[in-house]
Amino acid sequence: MSNAAPRWAWVDGVLLAADARHISAFDRGFQLGDGVFETLRAAGGRVTELAEHTARLRGSADGLAIELPDDLDTRLATGIDNLLAAEGLGGPNGDASVRITVTRGPWMSRGLLPASDERLTATIVIQAWPVTAAPGTTPAHGISAVSSRVRRDPGNPLATLKTTSRADYVYAKLEARRAGADDTLFFTVDGHLSEATSANVFLIRRAADGVLELATPSLTCAILAGTTRSWILRWAASVGLRPHEGQLTRADLAAAEEVFLTASVAGVVPVVRLDGQLVGDGQPGPWTLRARANREAYITQA
Ligand SMILES: Cc1ncc(COP(=O)(O)O)c(C=O)c1O
Repeated sequence: MSNAAPRWAWVDGVLLAADARHISAFDRGFQLGDGVFETLRAAGGRVTELAEHTARLRGSADGLAIELPDDLDTRLATGIDNLLAAEGLGGPNGDASVRITVTRGPWMSRGLLPASDERLTATIVIQAWPVTAAPGTTPAHGISAVSSRVRRDPGNPLATLKTTSRADYVYAKLEARRAGADDTLFFTVDGHLSEATSANVFLIRRAADGVLELATPSLTCAILAGTTRSWILRWAASVGLRPHEGQLTRADLAAAEEVFLTASVAGVVPVVRLDGQLVGDGQPGPWTLRARANREAYITQA
């Protein structure tokens, strides 16, 4: 996946040069992380699951009582189209990672929250980066992950919102870097598997009744309700794997035949090493590679 620098940013309806100044220093997103965001993939000029991402963006904004414009859907669809065209990423060969960020907007006073009768205008920004290779890390090798010291609290009402307050996640990525790993897995305060820093987690395992299962933490395990997660759960049923959503432990992870992560841009990413131990034989497993290929085909050919 390329991190080639974008040339443009779509800011409140206007395309601005990427290296220009864009938003107010008083913007609450900058000051307080008072915002929400989405990251999605647009391949061949088609934006994957835009409706699902917009619905989740609305849910996150609702959680923080950030007011969105009535014509949000049209603005986003038009904004993404214009930006992809400007970046040269919109045609049949285009493949982009698109980020939508919405903050509560600029506020000239101090403090954590404006008075309830004060109307702020949300700042809306769209950015796009090219996805040049098959997204995610090399499936031939997979990635390594370590457990984070940061714990997720299923009782925290913010745990399932995609807010721009991401210091915990940045910290967790630093933990991975310091450990020489690629990513970090969060566990809940009560010791159950939660998710990765920007992806959901799945295991392939043989259940006690002998059936091959695709298991993932349930929505009550302080996870983001991933759009790819929903797709993979439906996919599992269609290929004869029994989908299972529940509370998973470290022992479940250690016993899994295969482990993979899912996210909109990276797709399905094999995890071959966990806290220094090989997952299975240390190679991406057949179900993981099948899921990856099927999801990629869906994104590029749907
Ligand atoms: C914390 C977290 N979990 C899971 C996901 C995966 O969600 P999706 O499949 O909708 O991209 C993301 C995506 O960025 C995320 O940030």
